Amino acid sequence: MKIEKIGVIGAGVMGAGIAQAFATSGYPVLLRDISQSALDRVFATVKASLSRLVAKEKMTQSDADAALARIVPTLKLEDFRDRDLIVEAVVEKFEVKKAIVADLDGICAEKAIFASNTSSLSLTKIAAASKQPGRVIGMHFFNPVPMMRLVEVIRAIQTSDAVNAAIVETVARLGKEARVARDSYGFVVNRVLIPMVNEAINCVYENVATPEDVDAMMKLGAAHPMGPLALADMIGLDIVLDVMEVLYAGFSDPKYRPSPLLKQMCDAGFLGRKTGRGFFSY
Ligand code: NAI
Repeated sequence: MKIEKIGVIGAGVMGAGIAQAFATSGYPVLLRDISQSALDRVFATVKASLSRLVAKEKMTQSDADAALARIVPTLKLEDFRDRDLIVEAVVEKFEVKKAIVADLDGICAEKAIFASNTSSLSLTKIAAASKQPGRVIGMHFFNPVPMMRLVEVIRAIQTSDAVNAAIVETVARLGKEARVARDSYGFVVNRVLIPMVNEAINCVYENVATPEDVDAMMKLGAAHPMGPLALADMIGLDIVLDVMEVLYAGFSDPKYRPSPLLKQMCDAGFLGRKTGRGFFSY
């Protein structure tokens, strides 16, 4: 299964990083968005990211220029007909992803692989939207993509062994580490990480300790590089709440109940860094 030509759909935070990761590894990338302004912005984002890598002497200026030149923007999905692997990083809405899978069925070659970067939706449901469900898989990248080494590879129950093996090999060619998980609510990283963050929020809600002390304890006592509340502010409290709701609804288990304080802060619009206020001020 040859993977040479890449298509990335969605030129937001993750799509920019994913396009950059493939381009710096030598793959030609077609990058599609429905918004021309998103496509315009993405080049500035990727250029700035590559410049930082050049400044840190992690790559040369000519390699950075070559990588940027490998990314070609488009507004048309029809341009994806010769792509071997399409990675989708559009908004986290099932209906939008489902429509893209169905559209690609009519455009791409039968051998093309469709990977979703979803962080919480069921890969099995996304695969079911395709006429070739065995060719659908999850490639869950982490933000910021150029820095984070893990790609959580998510196998839907329909995903074929050959597609799984091809994606694991492709991740290695990106210089990243693939770890495979079966499709399940929150996969592995979010299922372990986000309830820990939720519990830290409950410690504040129950006046067990201040946000500063909760974070200091986890850094000093558990060797976490960043406290869970500072991490929540960085991820965005709305995203933390979304993940807790997926786990709570999916497993129907009260251990995943979102903290009432988390809900209140989201209602108030205190979403963390992006709004200037979360558990800390920015
Ligand atoms: P974003 O909001 O920055 O970007 C989404 C982009 O998709 C926008 O540019 C939008 O114009 C475009 N878009 C919407 N509908 C489209 C369509 N039909 N065709 C083409 N483009 C379309 O979102 P972000 O943060 O990059 O997230 C994208 C995906 O990655 C989501 O599924 C999210 O759950 C997942 N993810 C996000 C992470 C993060 O830290 N932000 C981490 C891991 C996964």
